[in-house]
Amino acid sequence: SKRHKVAVVGSGNWGSTIAKIVAENTRAHPELFEEDVQMWVFEEEVTIPKNSKHYPGDSAKPEKLTSLINKYHENFKYLPDIPLPTNLVANPSVENAVEGASILIFNLPHQFIGRLSQQMRGHILPFARGISCIKGVHVTDASVSLFSETIGKGLGIYVGALSGANLATEIAKEKWSETTIGYDPPMLDSRTPTPRGPSPQASTDDLKGLQHLDVHGEVSSVKLTPLPSDYPPIDHALWHTLFHRQYFHIRVIHDVAGVSLGGALKNIVAVAAGFVDGRGWGDNAKAAVMRVGLLEMVKFGKEFFAETVDPATFLEESCGVADLITSCSGGRNHKCAKMSVEEGLSINEIEKRELNGQKLQGTSTAYEVHSFLNSRGLAHEYPLFTAVYNILEGNNTVDDIPDLISKPGE
Ligand code: NAD
Ligand code: 13P
Repeated sequence: SKRHKVAVVGSGNWGSTIAKIVAENTRAHPELFEEDVQMWVFEEEVTIPKNSKHYPGDSAKPEKLTSLINKYHENFKYLPDIPLPTNLVANPSVENAVEGASILIFNLPHQFIGRLSQQMRGHILPFARGISCIKGVHVTDASVSLFSETIGKGLGIYVGALSGANLATEIAKEKWSETTIGYDPPMLDSRTPTPRGPSPQASTDDLKGLQHLDVHGEVSSVKLTPLPSDYPPIDHALWHTLFHRQYFHIRVIHDVAGVSLGGALKNIVAVAAGFVDGRGWGDNAKAAVMRVGLLEMVKFGKEFFAETVDPATFLEESCGVADLITSCSGGRNHKCAKMSVEEGLSINEIEKRELNGQKLQGTSTAYEVHSFLNSRGLAHEYPLFTAVYNILEGNNTVDDIPDLISKPGE
């Protein structure tokens, strides 16, 4: 029988960390997976930094990032000082990296996935399945969708989502955290009332006879190809095995929309939290912003993903309030927003100066969500999301936040 070949699309701070985890697990489970994991790397020239133990001295010169990763098993630019497994192979060609892979992990800043999806078209196995670790939402004209959905539709495969309270640098150092995977492919058992909570054995990916179903379980032009029966089933148990480590605990649930929306929308709230911290207002102000932000996250889910989202996910799972809390303390969106207020510089300038090529998701998500809400005349119903947009645009200041988001009572 066959084993799954795994490819990771993306190799930034989180992309490299998830690739490390996955490669550790493919090595630990040869009965299920081929050992080598391909990781697509956006190629660039990188010089080994002076403070690295691999610094070659005066002979240091820029080299291709893929060559450096494959030689030293370290991503010097996006995840320095973390040893990567030797069975993780950096590949500059996305078409080549995903070739023959039955499992695809998408993990890159959301602004780049559209172009990458187009490049992958026609190069992936038709029966592949995926997980998106991307935090953001896809907004076009007046519509909003999850990246798991847009990637899945674009490639004609089913894609679930992984998201949680997961600051990458902590996990890369193998400090314990937990995460949530949402996976609910269209098949008979997932169309009966959705069981809640982790259910590692709940579903198998036997799509035989269901080829007319699309990625939402609806009849449409996107046809899913069944997984050949000589592969291990791609189900909740398999995702658990591929991602779970002693330092990275997994809960697999069915609520893909809840998993994706928590990770996307908390980034806007983290920017707001950074703003009030930068203003020097302290923990009470930050808690107020987080309270209103959480309410807007739940409202957004109920309003635009009513059919699929379970509002309880926002409270009960790592991808909800737990991610909000960690991001509003130790995240990059929070850090850059705070510095921008302290120094009176734009958040984009701070991002360029501080993040060495890593990308913020909260600022673009604030613009995208605002454009979507505004086109529906609903911006005023989401005062915190709207305040973040207006502060970024220069229409409001941080001092306006209390009046913008406070409601006097019933
Ligand atoms: P990152 O912020 O480190 O971004 C840098 C990556 O973007 C690099 O791999 C770089 O090569 C790539 N890149 C730059 N320009 C590009 C281009 N033109 N085309 C394609 N790729 C390009 O990325 P990350 O931290 O891996 O984040 C990926 C996703 O994971 C995001 O949605 C993020 O919100 C989410 N996430 C991040 C963390 C974290 O702590 N870093 C934790 C959880 C989730
Ligand atoms: P930042 O992108 O703000 O660093 O957030 C990381 C994250 O998603 C933590 O779960």
